[in-house]
Amino acid sequence: MPTIRLTDLPAWRALEARRRTLPPRGWLRGQFTADPGRAERFTAEAAGLFFDFSKQRIDDGILRDLLDLAEQVRLRDRIEAMLRGERINATEQRPVLHVALRAAKGDAYAVDGVDVVAEVHEVLGRMARFAEAIRAGTWLGHGGRPIRTVVNIGIGGSDLGPVMAFEALRHYATPAVGFRFVSNVDGTDFAEAVAGLDPAETLFVVSSKTFTTQETMANATTARDWLLAGCGGDAAAVARHFVAVSTNAAEVARFGIDTANMFGFWDWVGGRYSMDSAIGLSTMIAIGPEHFAALLAGFREMDLHFRDAPFDRNLPVLHGLLVVWNASICLAPTMAVLPYDQYLKRFPAYLQQLSMESNGKRVCLDGTLVDHPTGPVVWGEPGTNGQHSFYQLIHQGTQRIPCDFLGAIHPLHALGRHQSMLLANMLAQAEALAFGKTAEEVSAEGTAARLVPHREFPGDIPSSTILYDRLTPATLGALVAFYEHSVFTQGAVWGINSFDQWGVELGKVLAGRILPELDSPSPPALDHDASTNALIRRIRSARNLP
Ligand code: F6P
Repeated sequence: MPTIRLTDLPAWRALEARRRTLPPRGWLRGQFTADPGRAERFTAEAAGLFFDFSKQRIDDGILRDLLDLAEQVRLRDRIEAMLRGERINATEQRPVLHVALRAAKGDAYAVDGVDVVAEVHEVLGRMARFAEAIRAGTWLGHGGRPIRTVVNIGIGGSDLGPVMAFEALRHYATPAVGFRFVSNVDGTDFAEAVAGLDPAETLFVVSSKTFTTQETMANATTARDWLLAGCGGDAAAVARHFVAVSTNAAEVARFGIDTANMFGFWDWVGGRYSMDSAIGLSTMIAIGPEHFAALLAGFREMDLHFRDAPFDRNLPVLHGLLVVWNASICLAPTMAVLPYDQYLKRFPAYLQQLSMESNGKRVCLDGTLVDHPTGPVVWGEPGTNGQHSFYQLIHQGTQRIPCDFLGAIHPLHALGRHQSMLLANMLAQAEALAFGKTAEEVSAEGTAARLVPHREFPGDIPSSTILYDRLTPATLGALVAFYEHSVFTQGAVWGINSFDQWGVELGKVLAGRILPELDSPSPPALDHDASTNALIRRIRSARNLP
């Protein structure tokens, strides 16, 4: 039986028809005037997050069609398949069970009949003992001194999560230990990260799911050389200054790290879904096991909500459906994530990988090409800074850019009126985007006619506002799980595999080919395109290579 195309589903067609009837201007104003209950009705709340999506370009009919779409793509079955540990990552034949990373003891998640929750808690216990020893200064370096700086080496999901979580939760971090992060293969990243550090007091956490990633292995090798150079070349120092986080014990041992100093995870955890696995070791050392447990509890609360709540009150489902509406039906190619919380400054970068590596796909699960846009470009910066940079384009440019605003009601630093000013700006931006300012309103202020078009704001730019009480480890866990499950919802609707990333392979293979061509002492036989060949020759010639 031929598979029914997403674009042929009744709900999809209904949504497209509704989009065609939306006027280009003034629609949200009209909706808010005609429907006083809208602001209350288009909200939902769970796990400490209040989600206001009333400024999205939707009405009851559109929302109903989106919820119908979720039914018609059998979203509930997809969620249950994930939670049962089915191999829903079909192209890699792997289960997708990051929810098990935050399961409570006694929760039931199994892979091939094996209780993975017990394994998760065994690793968490080892992480906690190690983290406590570093924090208490009882884990001693090779020269007998405590560790004063932890350097996480990793890239992609083995870096973005740890960096984001450290920045987000640094208010809760111990002052006794410093934290630095190395990801880029650009030697500058390593050089700057270790500048001023004493090898005798430095611990490297080499974080890599595969332990074969070129950048991470290059940085780890350089780190080992740096350590040995600083410790008189005694190879025994590695055991006190290197730990590994990986799924690949064989490669960890081959690199020279004792697997007793390895914290494992599993192939059912995707790299971009791993910040709450052992990949979070640097996070746990920073904030301590108790706060880490609170982080996991926040994740779990959102997981249970995603699993149990009806779709019309389910935050990640609603958010995911709105992304589908904006990206695929209303054809908005990007979306901005705008945290009005300085501690979340790396959150947009984290979400970029989570969302774009997951849903940057053009092929359906059945191998056919999609016939609609999938994952939008995700980008953003904290407010209010972004207001003085790129918001101009959101307000008056030619693209409609849906925005997520994120903000805490209470600050972690109560300084004068700062928090009220911050929140006032966040609310004002969402208001300005939604309702704009008409030419008549601009004229009524006495603006010269020739300036009116320049000072008019079109409005009808959709946004959601996500409010939370204050940024705690639990809030962060809930926030990340919210976006994880939104990304899942989007992928399930689009019928794509959100859990592979074949798109990063080709560049890796070509880089492996070009590397020796840049360095070889004799002229390489180049058979790339003319542009790549010429650039390689130019670099070689500037380096005085033949
Ligand atoms: O190149 C992409 C990627 O595979 C990501 O999915 C992953 O998070 C990152 O590389 C790092 O991989 P690893 O943890 O295996 O070093």
